Amino acid sequence: MTKITFVEPNGTQHETEAETGSTVMETAVRNGVPGIVAECGGACTCATCHVYVDDAWTEKVGGPSVMEEDMLDFAFDVRDSSRLSCQIKVREELDGLVLHVPENQG
Ligand code: FES
Repeated sequence: MTKITFVEPNGTQHETEAETGSTVMETAVRNGVPGIVAECGGACTCATCHVYVDDAWTEKVGGPSVMEEDMLDFAFDVRDSSRLSCQIKVREELDGLVLHVPENQG
């Protein structure tokens, strides 16, 4: 199991246990993390699963694919650390990952 912490804009933290091979979005939805809407269910066509990767983790998580980058154009307040959480696969080396939930989706 991989520990992933989601931080809401108001600072509330949600510590979750993520299954290897699932996605970060699925982990958030399964744990009822507020602010991760995931309208398209992980097909990379809605941009409502937008998160900011914590500065300490951007290198390990890596950047978005071209398709994800195109979709991120539709997200709210996109930053360098923006990712669509349905496109981040859970893997053991991400144990301890911290992600920040944006104020709004889409
Ligand atoms: Fe729709 Fe991620 S869930 S783009």
